[in-house]
Amino acid sequence: MRAVYFERNGGPEVLECQDRPAPEGEVLVDVEAVGINYRDVYERQGGGYGSAPPAIIGVEGAGTIHDTGERVAWVGVPGSYAEQVAAPRDRFVPVPDGVDAEVAAAALLQGMTAHYLAADSYPIEDGDWVIVHAAAGGVGLLLTQIAKSRGGRVIATTSTQEKADLARGAGADEVIDYDGFAARAREITDGQGVAAVYDGVGQATFAEGLKALRPTGRMILYGAASGQPDPLNLAVLAPAGSLYVQRPTLQTYTRTPELLRDRAAALFELIAGGQLDVRIGARYPLEQARQAHEDLEARKTTGKLLLIP
Ligand SMILES: NC(=O)c1ccc[n+]([C@@H]2O[C@H](COP(=O)([O-])OP(=O)(O)OC[C@H]3O[C@@H](n4cnc5c(N)ncnc54)[C@H](OP(=O)(O)O)[C@@H]3O)[C@@H](O)[C@H]2O)c1
Repeated sequence: MRAVYFERNGGPEVLECQDRPAPEGEVLVDVEAVGINYRDVYERQGGGYGSAPPAIIGVEGAGTIHDTGERVAWVGVPGSYAEQVAAPRDRFVPVPDGVDAEVAAAALLQGMTAHYLAADSYPIEDGDWVIVHAAAGGVGLLLTQIAKSRGGRVIATTSTQEKADLARGAGADEVIDYDGFAARAREITDGQGVAAVYDGVGQATFAEGLKALRPTGRMILYGAASGQPDPLNLAVLAPAGSLYVQRPTLQTYTRTPELLRDRAAALFELIAGGQLDVRIGARYPLEQARQAHEDLEARKTTGKLLLIP
């Protein structure tokens, strides 16, 4: 089978599309669409994240079980940039009829992330102001929509006009630049500050985000696309208004097969019911995985990126 393999950690150039032996495991799945995620960049770069090379990269996709034809999707199967994957049965979740394979692969990881961020990390309540950074990205567009569906009011940050338009289309109430975003968020909220900051950008935004929060507000640092933030001196949280900080992972929120299935089912229900629009920003053949990573890291992409084997 064809797969995207990396023999050492490094830049996009370490990704090679090769013929590899078929994978072995409890259930063999023919892959229809592979989800690309920012975590794949961290996995490729190394530093203890994801599979160590030599390995096939990626963890997400959708397809059919080879022996039964059952439609499934997954978020935690190493070696997913491939024509086939294999894993224990309970790593796969069923895909309902109303959701096609590309949409399932596009939505599952980033959608379940957006879902737990808005419902659990800080359960957004009617009228709450929240900041969603990188709102035109994969997680960002979904989180903006889910925040709005819970009655929240969203201040979105984006880096270009095209991305600003997409964030607005997803329902963002205000779309602003990263420059001076905390002061701007305070103005928008009449000096009160926001209930939560959802930050997947990290280094470039984390410290300033603390200044945008209302008393007892929550800083949810769920990623680090710009690099890891500097270490936090906890003492700063007191005078800033008794703030909370969380560093959540999807893995924690889907740590049992039941949690995974329930979260996936809730997400697919929103999609099948037309309440969540999943934007596929680009599709690449497996051979162009390198290009996909270059585009993602260069901030050129919007919504979800897929590889089509
Ligand atoms: N903890 C979890 O459970 C979990 C799960 C899924 C994803 N994540 C995290 O969520 C974040 C978003 O992931 P995603 O897959 O949806 O990616 P994405 O948002 O589609 O892509 C990353 C975006 O981050 C923004 N960005 C800001 N500074 C950047 C920089 N220096 N380099 C690159 N991008 C930068 C860019 O948008 P602008 O150009 O608009 O700034 C870029 O498009 C990542 O940090 C990822 O690790 C966490």
